[in-house]
Amino acid sequence: MTTPSSNWRPKAIIFDLLTALLDSWALWDASITSTGAEEAQIWRKRYLELTFGTGAYVPYEQLVHKAAQDVGLAESAPRTLLENWGKLQPWPEVVQVLEQLRLQGYRLGVVTNCSQRLGTIAAGIAGNFDAVVTAEESGFYKPSKQAYQAILTAMGVQAQDVLFVAGSPGDVEGATNASMKVVWHNKIGLPRKGQSVPLREATSLDDALLGFM
Ligand SMILES: *[C@@H]1O[C@H](CO)[C@@H](O)[C@H](O)[C@H]1NC(C)=O
Ligand SMILES: *[C@@H]1O[C@H](CO)[C@@H](O)[C@H](O)[C@H]1NC(C)=O
Repeated sequence: MTTPSSNWRPKAIIFDLLTALLDSWALWDASITSTGAEEAQIWRKRYLELTFGTGAYVPYEQLVHKAAQDVGLAESAPRTLLENWGKLQPWPEVVQVLEQLRLQGYRLGVVTNCSQRLGTIAAGIAGNFDAVVTAEESGFYKPSKQAYQAILTAMGVQAQDVLFVAGSPGDVEGATNASMKVVWHNKIGLPRKGQSVPLREATSLDDALLGFM
């Protein structure tokens, strides 16, 4: 098989959680009772601008509320999102793919842009991981280099021994800058950004990991 991985096997595979493994967008949509998806997208876009510009951690819950306020949404939207956090759903193939990777002996990790409480809930929905590092624990939101460094430290692995599964374009660039090899599970067809090109880009997790499974 000719794949990007033909001569290289990572020791660990590290995932973005809220976009690459879970369908967190659906939960944002569902938190708005009236018009739904379009307003949710504007809210989430504002949220991403806030996290992108933030770098050092400020409470996730606060950013979710502030983003809603900035775009003129009722306070019920962020409240509903946070209350329903435990209803996050993995993308359909995720549980099986993670089980298979584990059987193949890979160590699995997660680095996620949220609070410790919400990150623990969300990671538990996706599967079992050797390590989970949230922005609250590392003190930094992705794509800060420190956020990626924190999961490498937690797992005791070097960047060159890791395959990173990104969920969004900022993550592709951030993980690449942190010296990891990157594939992009681009489930919802987000546009590319910046100079970084992933080893592979696909709309399903198993396809993104082709050659590693
Ligand atoms: C986390 O931050 C990265 C970089 O800004 C961004 O690409 C990603 O979408 C963020 N994810 C969430 C769920 O906030
Ligand atoms: C990645 O590195 C490039 C080159 O140093 C820099 O311009 C860019 O802002 C960095 N991006 C991220 C997301 O860290």
